[in-house]
Amino acid sequence: MTQDELKALVGQAALQYVVPGEIVGVGTGSTVNKFIDALATMKDRIPGAVSSSVASTERLRALGIPVFDSNEVGELSVYIDGADEIDPNGFMVKGGGAALTREKIVAAQSRRFVCIADESKLVEALGRFPLPVEVIPMATARITRQFAAMGGTAKVRLKDGVPLVTDNGQHILDVTGLTLRDPLAFESEVNQWPGVVTVGVFAHQKAAICLLGTSTGVKTLTY
Ligand code: 5RP
Repeated sequence: MTQDELKALVGQAALQYVVPGEIVGVGTGSTVNKFIDALATMKDRIPGAVSSSVASTERLRALGIPVFDSNEVGELSVYIDGADEIDPNGFMVKGGGAALTREKIVAAQSRRFVCIADESKLVEALGRFPLPVEVIPMATARITRQFAAMGGTAKVRLKDGVPLVTDNGQHILDVTGLTLRDPLAFESEVNQWPGVVTVGVFAHQKAAICLLGTSTGVKTLTY
């Protein structure tokens, strides 16, 4: 199976976690796009979604799925999203699509995080994928030095040769060279550096379940 087919497989499998009659939290990325397409087949059974990005909102609306403001609704039963890496504890690195801040907000509003990923995302320890960090631009140089002091190399993410601007009007640093041995402590520490909007470690908002697309089918991992 191709990676694209594995993404479609887990996107479809995630439908079983959508609670009929309830609003669902929706993440961002190519795997989530497969989920959104599958969700359209049951759109008459849910009021709609809370979305984690402009891109997902546009896709949901184009398929006739209403999108609610996160402030208009209470706790969500489930949040479904992809990951760039997931470890054996359900801790993740996210933000490859630059949507990490809103993803963490919707994840925090949800009782259960269901991660959908193909098996290439499974790692023993987080740190292989460059760690995305959303930052306030005036703090970029200092935050880069703080990562250097930890042994990491931070680079501003570019789009068309200029710094990428997130849905929140901020920049992304991608940090290489770090192995995250204690993701909970790392997330807590980096999140309190002035100018950091969100670090792309999802340890406090870890997955409860991962639907992993493998060549032999969907494996359900629980944490
Ligand atoms: C976006 C994300 C995505 O969930 C992550 O990048 C995985 O994306 P894909 O499903 O395209 O591999 O965190 O900010």
